Amino acid sequence: MNNKYVGIIGLGAYVPEKIMTNKDLEQVMDTSDEWIVERTGIRERHVAAENEATSDLATKAAQKALEDANITAAEIDLIIVATGTADMAFPATACLVQDNLKAINAAAFDVSAACSGFIYALVTGSQFIKAGVYRKVLVIGAETLSRITDWSDRKTGMLFGDGAGAAVLGETPEGYGILGVDLGSNGSGAELLKVPAGGSRNPATAETVLQRQHYIQMDGNEVFKFAVKIMGETTSKALQNANLTPVDVTYLVPHQANIRIIKSAAKRLGLPMEKVVVNVDKYGNTSAASVPIALDEAVKSGVIKPGDIIALVGFGGGLTWASSIMKWYK
Ligand code: ACO
Repeated sequence: MNNKYVGIIGLGAYVPEKIMTNKDLEQVMDTSDEWIVERTGIRERHVAAENEATSDLATKAAQKALEDANITAAEIDLIIVATGTADMAFPATACLVQDNLKAINAAAFDVSAACSGFIYALVTGSQFIKAGVYRKVLVIGAETLSRITDWSDRKTGMLFGDGAGAAVLGETPEGYGILGVDLGSNGSGAELLKVPAGGSRNPATAETVLQRQHYIQMDGNEVFKFAVKIMGETTSKALQNANLTPVDVTYLVPHQANIRIIKSAAKRLGLPMEKVVVNVDKYGNTSAASVPIALDEAVKSGVIKPGDIIALVGFGGGLTWASSIMKWYK
């Protein structure tokens, strides 16, 4: 075990310009602004333009993160993109970002862990630095969920949005950066949240398209119960690994899926909502992008400051969950 400390040394985020409000959704699905706000906390979400794909959003967020870290693309050793909405089945979206950035010295691969993806990528990337293999790693959570959202399905259609968040990882002074993590999965819950067609089990055909099987399907109630339980559990485990307890947390930055899930997770951890970063109202659930977008906003607006103890926590399809405790450096 070496004694290197690794943390975030630059952050960036990007959301597409176009905004779709709940009122806009009322035009295409049987729902109401009132219901969506009360049951989810979401008021609007951003939607990618026709010519914008996940790699485009990821690249823009990455460029801001590189600038924030004050490093060039050539200094990046590895790019990890967490996404459930890759530009193509392959090549990896990370390779497309590598080319866009001209990150000529970087290896690149994608991570698929749904809404937990950014924290999975963060933990994976940090290991390369800790091990002394790489010095600078770029991790990105990026999604164009609008491409796999069924706007005619009111069980899922109002939840999702598009966006990207990026972080540059590097060595930090002793005691700063990632202090404890927890990752987990339970594949027996795979059926609860999935895109059924378009993979090797159920390849895309005219019939699967007609049956709308290339869109997200979700058992919302079961995912809700799982989320409420696991958010508190995984954060507590990561805190234990860091030799900390919930009272030490300055800010919780949770996956932004539903305000009711966020509130019950905070309650289980005994954290007042003043200590919880929330922006689900503006972006909806942007899956792997939600945690880095929320983190970027909280840091850039001066809410999160150097020395704060930050708990990142996510849950999602797989089922998967992930959390990371950091002493904020930058
Ligand atoms: N508009 C209006 N009414 C609606 C809507 C809607 N969009 N959706 C459901 N309803 C109605 C239902 O028909 C039902 O009516 P009924 O009582 O007459 O039958 C009533 O509202 C309650 O429906 P529920 O499904 O029980 O509503 P619930 O309060 O559970 O909210 C929701 C549904 C928002 C989907 C919730 O279950 C949830 O947030 N689940 C978790 C989703 C989530 O976090 N997903 C993460 C995905 S992460 C990833 O990996 C992509």
